[in-house]
Amino acid sequence: MSENYVQHEYDVVVIGAGGAGLRAAIEAARSGAKTAIITKSLLGKAHTVMAEGGCAAALQNADPRDSWKVHFHDTMKGSKWLADWQMAEYHAKEAPDRVRELEQWGAVFDRTPKDVINQRNFGGHTFPRLAHVGDATGLELIRTLQERGIHEGIDFFTEFTVRKLLKEGDRVTGCVAYTRVEGEFHAFSAKSVVLATGGITRVWSVCSGSWEYTGDGHALALWAGAELRDMEFVQFHPTGMIWPPSVRGILVTEGVRGEGGRLTNSEGQRFMFDYVPEMFAGDHAETIEEADQWVEEVVSGKLATVRRPPELLTRDVVAKAINSEVKAGRGSTHGGAYLDISHRGLEAIMAKLPSMHHQFKELAGVDISKEPMEVGPTAHYVMGGVVVNAETQESTVNGLYACGEVASGLHGANRLGGNSLSDLIVFGKRAGEFAAKRASDLAQPPLDDAQVKDAIAEMLEPLQREDGENPGLIYDAMRDMMQAKVGIIRTKTELLEALDDIKEFKQRAMKCNPGTSRIYNSGWHQALDLVNMADISHVATLAALTREESRGGHTRDDFPGHEEEYWGKHVNIVWMDNGEIKIRQDPIVEMREDLQEAIKEVKAIIAERAKEQGGDK
Ligand code: FUM
Repeated sequence: MSENYVQHEYDVVVIGAGGAGLRAAIEAARSGAKTAIITKSLLGKAHTVMAEGGCAAALQNADPRDSWKVHFHDTMKGSKWLADWQMAEYHAKEAPDRVRELEQWGAVFDRTPKDVINQRNFGGHTFPRLAHVGDATGLELIRTLQERGIHEGIDFFTEFTVRKLLKEGDRVTGCVAYTRVEGEFHAFSAKSVVLATGGITRVWSVCSGSWEYTGDGHALALWAGAELRDMEFVQFHPTGMIWPPSVRGILVTEGVRGEGGRLTNSEGQRFMFDYVPEMFAGDHAETIEEADQWVEEVVSGKLATVRRPPELLTRDVVAKAINSEVKAGRGSTHGGAYLDISHRGLEAIMAKLPSMHHQFKELAGVDISKEPMEVGPTAHYVMGGVVVNAETQESTVNGLYACGEVASGLHGANRLGGNSLSDLIVFGKRAGEFAAKRASDLAQPPLDDAQVKDAIAEMLEPLQREDGENPGLIYDAMRDMMQAKVGIIRTKTELLEALDDIKEFKQRAMKCNPGTSRIYNSGWHQALDLVNMADISHVATLAALTREESRGGHTRDDFPGHEEEYWGKHVNIVWMDNGEIKIRQDPIVEMREDLQEAIKEVKAIIAERAKEQGGDK
């Protein structure tokens, strides 16, 4: 079938308009590159807004004891020592400048009485480190970057879905997209392409992500021959809404616990005290009195002299603890845990957590200034993603860059809350800078008409089918299966079953019937999304099967025990070869010596503090 398409030429095309995409495009445009952003959704509608509680950066405003070294240590430890240390170093060193730059561009951060950016506590961060705007930080970040982007002269293509990356030999030369509203086709010639498409969590039925989150960038990279890393590590944020069913999965910010929120089970016990893993022993309060004292000190703006409550353990730990309480029959009425912030009172809640107050009042009929919330784990983030060069963010395919959630490396086996906003401004900037630098040396690549036509034919193919299932049925069933078999706790038997199921789902997806219209046809969009979702589910499941250990966001019931005893020292690398998904394990590169020294230095400081506070480490 021959179809017309509109042609475009750019130096740099950025796919995705969340924080990472916007920051990359701003940097590319500032460097003089003719830059476009293509986004599947509307401007401002990105998962970035789900990073509500803040952006981590060692600004030292709330606690002068903080430094890039402590942030680097916390990120590495939180990642279960699997993060790419070079990325963690860039991140810890550059995040403060990127946050101050946002402020100069108009972001209205909450302030301390001394009129500097205020910072709040989050899990796994030794000091209060999260610059925030109440509980709507991601939204403010997007607003600021959008305004800045428009003034940099970036062209925006909204409600365009990219389905294929164009290649010439081993380099990427552009992409092909269709418009979601009219079903028209557009081909972009680009000297560099930046993927900033976010994550994959729509693959699970309980998730904090919106409909866009179908792993598009991960799949585009895989199909274009790029390598993906550690796709088994999926972050189940401990606190999503669980009731009523229509809002299940919507995020309840970790800021609630950062502001002193208490987790209890159906017996009224602060159960997190029973779930402190060996590696964090000594870092957290051992008694309710100590935890309460910490809240009092933090609320009154003093430097904390005692250890933080165990509710502020890393997300992997808290999510698994809630899961265990529910399994043990001590769950809340609707199968989660209770999260209570009412002791802080209405005034503090309205100042610090206004969106949470509104969200629960409007969606669940719960007044969080008077009663506890009910919460449970929700798929929130994928730590795995496209393998990138730490400095440039270029993938293993020339001219293809990735930044933000679609890239891998910074978060290892578990991401600390707040490290995603800082990730996307630090590495968005780097990706934009290096993509533009590459483009400045290249001629405009010609559009390969045959490749474009092939891509269009593939997109149109589902509309030619005369019968078949509705794609929505397959979409729901596949997400339920992933939730049941590739969820928080995994076993070999279920992972093997899941791989078989995914193959079947893919076959069903290739035969589904979305109807015939290209205009406003959400069934067609879903039929296309199903293909990437099936491939990405396959990759995540295969990686989970291959990693025979429990670490961070990947727990194998059949490889339990003391985590550290079982910890391997490898990363899982996945790629596609002639349509077949392959996997290998690469050893971790040993950390540079000066960074090992920095870690030792920070460990010594933390151990000394713990001793002063009566801990045993
Ligand atoms: O809980 C939150 O506010 C989420 C933050 C994040 O994912 O970084």
